[in-house]
Amino acid sequence: MIENRKLEHIKICIEKDVASHYNYWDDVILKHETIPAVDLDDISLEVEFLGKKLNAPIIVDAMTGGHRIARKINESIARACEALGIGMAVGSQRAAIEKRELEDTYAVIKNYDVPLRLGNIGAPQLALGYGEEEIRRAMEMVDAHALEIHFNYLQEAIQPEGDTKVGNLREILKELAHKFPLIAKETGAGISRKAGEFFKDAGFKAIDVSGVSGTSFAAVEYYRGGKAGEIFWDWGLPSPYVLIILKDLDIPLIGSGGIRNGLDAAKALALGARVVGIAREVLPAALNSAEAVIKRLEEIIRELKIAIFLTGARNVEEMRDTSYVIRGELQQWLKQC
Ligand SMILES: Cc1cc2nc3c(=O)[nH]c(=O)nc-3n(C[C@H](O)[C@H](O)[C@H](O)COP(=O)(O)O)c2cc1C
Repeated sequence: MIENRKLEHIKICIEKDVASHYNYWDDVILKHETIPAVDLDDISLEVEFLGKKLNAPIIVDAMTGGHRIARKINESIARACEALGIGMAVGSQRAAIEKRELEDTYAVIKNYDVPLRLGNIGAPQLALGYGEEEIRRAMEMVDAHALEIHFNYLQEAIQPEGDTKVGNLREILKELAHKFPLIAKETGAGISRKAGEFFKDAGFKAIDVSGVSGTSFAAVEYYRGGKAGEIFWDWGLPSPYVLIILKDLDIPLIGSGGIRNGLDAAKALALGARVVGIAREVLPAALNSAEAVIKRLEEIIRELKIAIFLTGARNVEEMRDTSYVIRGELQQWLKQC
């Protein structure tokens, strides 16, 4: 059952080490500016993303829905996002599409004034027959401003019961992207340049890069019995690498995959992300309470402000011009890209 699987994912992500073995954000160094441009208190984190104003360039990214504990997690996150004025995505809505009585585990977020609400559906489900009706239902369920379509073929391939059909997915996506505000999203293996070009041409509104550095879904599935998960643990494109190779496509990018703190977030902005997506870093707090999520996110927001201050920028927009140094493994990736 999907509900049980989703619960297992949460449990594994809390109790086990599911991180990729290398965090590529450590290979991005922002350059210090000796005399900051403005007072720390005057650094502005406000951004507009997909037509919505956010108080900070942060989205708590897709994690869950479909069971009682997920309802609590989604509610804690939504309450925190309302309080902080930032965006939120729910996890895959497939469970509720297939079982209406689970809808409230996602719809609970509508009780909060979250400035940017994102729904979430898997691309493999589109390949297997989901269409306009399911997309409409998913969006209405959370009163979504846009819908993330997640591409998780790595996870599906490792999972014993995975959906690995692709079929005429590209044609389906082209049609849907003209009718709905869609965001193309990975789940930890990164969006390739070829796919990025396709999404841009098809009319997707944004790309959530979710590359290698943080949560590895090969690892998660390994703990669920997918033996190949150990082999493919670190498979995929590094998150900062994806931002660099997609930057000139001129489509709004969500920098995600392995963001642990506000400094990582600042690095993502410097590499071209319009906002950042954070998932597992807030999960333990979300299991606890909305207050705990607010506390964790406030720490991240403060670190982000400090990083912007110390690079001599005044706001998120100016972070795009910040200079940085790339070293280590990430440098190797860029040399051979
Ligand atoms: C417990 C958990 C459940 C997730 N479920 C979904 C999901 O249903 N749909 C989706 O698009 N991504 C899902 N993700 C992936 C995240 O949205 C994100 O892309 C990925 O975890 C990388 O970010 P992180 O390193 O900050 O965790 C999930 C992540 C976690 C930790």
